[in-house]
Amino acid sequence: MQTIKLGADGATVTALGVGTWAWGDTLFWAYGKDFGADDVAEAFQASVDAGVTFFDTAEVYGFGESERLIGKFCKKTSQPIQIATKYFPLPWRWNRSAIAEALTASLERLQTSQISLYQIHWPLEFLLKTKDFMEVLAAEVKTGRIQSVGVSNYSAEQMTQAHQYLQAKGIALAVNQVPYSLLTRQIEDNGTLQKAKQLGVTILAYSPLAQGLLTGKYTAENVKDLKGARRIDPRFSPQGLQKLAPLFAELQNLSEKYDKTPAQISLNWLISQGNIVPIPGAKNASQAKQNAGALGWELTPDEIELLRQKSK
Ligand SMILES: NC(=O)c1ccc[n+]([C@@H]2O[C@H](COP(=O)([O-])OP(=O)(O)OC[C@H]3O[C@@H](n4cnc5c(N)ncnc54)[C@H](OP(=O)(O)O)[C@@H]3O)[C@@H](O)[C@H]2O)c1
Repeated sequence: MQTIKLGADGATVTALGVGTWAWGDTLFWAYGKDFGADDVAEAFQASVDAGVTFFDTAEVYGFGESERLIGKFCKKTSQPIQIATKYFPLPWRWNRSAIAEALTASLERLQTSQISLYQIHWPLEFLLKTKDFMEVLAAEVKTGRIQSVGVSNYSAEQMTQAHQYLQAKGIALAVNQVPYSLLTRQIEDNGTLQKAKQLGVTILAYSPLAQGLLTGKYTAENVKDLKGARRIDPRFSPQGLQKLAPLFAELQNLSEKYDKTPAQISLNWLISQGNIVPIPGAKNASQAKQNAGALGWELTPDEIELLRQKSK
């Protein structure tokens, strides 16, 4: 199995993760209606069976339910599992002790004493200074409750600051978790990707399938009954999907060449660039198994560039 070290001295995890925002989430993802506990248990098992053992969650996903489910699933497997979770400084949790208390609660829900990665979910600097966040998390690395420290949704400048504060404590910033896919490319233009490369910070690419768009299953002809944010995302409208037809055609060409699905090609486009770990969401065994098939092969540099051009 392809693995990767997060940042310069972080945990080693599989080169692809599994996003678990949908697990237990009834606000955005219709958990309990379109899919449920059995489906996500099977998604967990299918991932582990395929060798993908890195799971990304957050205390806010399903108000703790995503962490609780992962905790239960981990108890039923003998495989070592790497878990990343996140701290969100709201509501009213703006002091240093709140971070340690939130970590304690996450570890309890996850039924473990140590996780691979703990991330600050959003850079809410006006609530709690990055320096405070990083000093508390550096201390947690030393106590052994977390193996590495990450941030999420940080700009190049905010990430650099977090890196410097941690470095002063002898620890490297392991990841910045940001939106990145063929269809979400802001980090290429706003300096985040380049700065992460310079600092040796791994990018955890969230929404790497553009919330399902890059699977090719949504087309101008068949799109209907959209749920959650997809309902207001113009890319999911018939006109938006029409515009994406040239990219879908190129994904289809490569699918045929490699005998891989458009989702696998899109995830491989991220992995093949190096030091980028996509964390696609999977709601059932079939999606989890398919996404794991993004590992173990590589697009060529020319194909990476071609897809870059076609998706501009
Ligand atoms: N740090 C942050 O602020 C932040 C924000 C967002 C997400 N995240 C993380 O990133 C993870 C992934 O992001 P995401 O869930 O927004 O988007 P995504 O991974 O781009 O899309 C996931 C969705 O695409 C569909 N899908 C996935 N694999 C498929 C396959 N092989 N075939 C067909 N459909 C497939 C499923 O939805 P349908 O079956 O409904 O089509 C699935 O729920 C989250 O779970 C979370 O861990 C973090």
